[in-house]
Amino acid sequence: MTETTAKITLGDKSVESPILSGTVGPDVVDIRKFYGQTGAFTYDPGFTSTASCESKLTYIDGDEGVLLHRGYPIGELAEHSSFMEVAYLLLNGELPSADELTRFDNTITRHTMVHEQLATFYRGFRRDAHPMAILCGVVGALSAFYHDSTDINDPHQRMIASHRLIAKMPTIAAMAYKYSVGQPFVYPRNDLGYTHNFLRMTFGVPAEEYQVDPAVVRALDRIFILHADHEQNASTSTVRLAGSSGANPFACIAAGIACLWGPAHGGANEAALNMLREIGRPERIPEYIARAKDKDDPFRLMGFGHRVYKNYDPRATVMQKTVREVFAALQVNDPMFDVALQLEEMALNDDYFIEKKLFPNVDFYSGVILSAIGFPTTMFTVLFALARTVGWVAQWNEMISDPAQKIGRPRQLYTGPVQRSYVPVEKR
Ligand code: SDX
Repeated sequence: MTETTAKITLGDKSVESPILSGTVGPDVVDIRKFYGQTGAFTYDPGFTSTASCESKLTYIDGDEGVLLHRGYPIGELAEHSSFMEVAYLLLNGELPSADELTRFDNTITRHTMVHEQLATFYRGFRRDAHPMAILCGVVGALSAFYHDSTDINDPHQRMIASHRLIAKMPTIAAMAYKYSVGQPFVYPRNDLGYTHNFLRMTFGVPAEEYQVDPAVVRALDRIFILHADHEQNASTSTVRLAGSSGANPFACIAAGIACLWGPAHGGANEAALNMLREIGRPERIPEYIARAKDKDDPFRLMGFGHRVYKNYDPRATVMQKTVREVFAALQVNDPMFDVALQLEEMALNDDYFIEKKLFPNVDFYSGVILSAIGFPTTMFTVLFALARTVGWVAQWNEMISDPAQKIGRPRQLYTGPVQRSYVPVEKR
């Protein structure tokens, strides 16, 4: 890292803070000593101008619409790679050799079963429980099952916990779906690939062999690639903050799932398809664009806008192409796709969206595809969590092994009452 300094003057104090440069992207001003030197905090609710860590995993250029995983563009990975290969890349830093990928695949495959007692946790939920509520609870419960892989200071145990999480998420997610539709749980099979195994556990039934179009398997695997990691987004930052206290890795991922569920974050894919269905037909699009622009209306175009991308989300580009492939493979069409295309066209030609640089994000088209494959909208964010588990565990490993990492403990701008004495109730 090259180093120059930034001078900040605060009253009669003037401090020089080092400016650090990464391999690419914005420099950072290292303010770790700023409070000690000035007695003042910096203030950045929402962290719009704050780098929380150093990372080598994912780089985003929001202005150019660039997304790299360990240097590889998301478009190339989506086109040529597989979700298991991207998982290996994020965890280990390099694309695997054929032999390394086979061994990694086999390792993950042999962790896909869950402890038989985990199934009893599902029985405690109502059948109409939201699958994200179930995922939160059951993944958190995993922290009670694996005491042999929670010494987070042991890299080998960290990797076992990481493999277990990546491998068991599809099984747990499929079980959540099966429980919601009253069908029996389907066990994973070791002769199927990761995504095919997940589809069979979700849609297969004991009464017949499960058949699925390879184009659908490929499309869902690509969707998992698009969701694998995304720098220091809210849920990843949640996992890092939870992990910074040394907490159980399974519990940290459960915290990430909880954060992802929000409609401003991973919950937007479910909200976006619900929005398209509420719009219903192209003639009603202007009404909803007007609502999105109305400051007094809390309505926002779901699947639009992004904290970092002020250009087209490169994942949305791949997602839109994948809609057409899945529709062709399944010989289906969905009028919601036409509504989405026309909504995008109108929004991108509207001054409000142009001025605020609001473009479709990863969540805008994903629901149309997932719905065509057969997933109910309540499962959309579950699929996002399934895929993002790879990024969460890779970021968690990077954080734990970073010698500079400390427990995350932000401060505040206090605007509450100054000290005052207690008043007995009879005198109030
Ligand atoms: C994900 O961080 C990540 O990387 C997340 C993610 C990942 O892979 O982990 O990419 C996944 O979460 C994608 C985002 C999914 N969420 C949505 O689609 C929900 C709708 N989008 C918004 O709520 C919003 O765009 C956010 C939350 C995504 C970003 O919000 P910011 O960065 O805090 O921006 P903001 O709310 O300050 O908006 C800036 C302006 C505001 O207007 P002003 O107050 O300046 O007048 O743009 C407006 C907003 O009102 N605006 C929108 C809008 N999004 C922002 N107006 C209408 N519709 C929208 N969708």
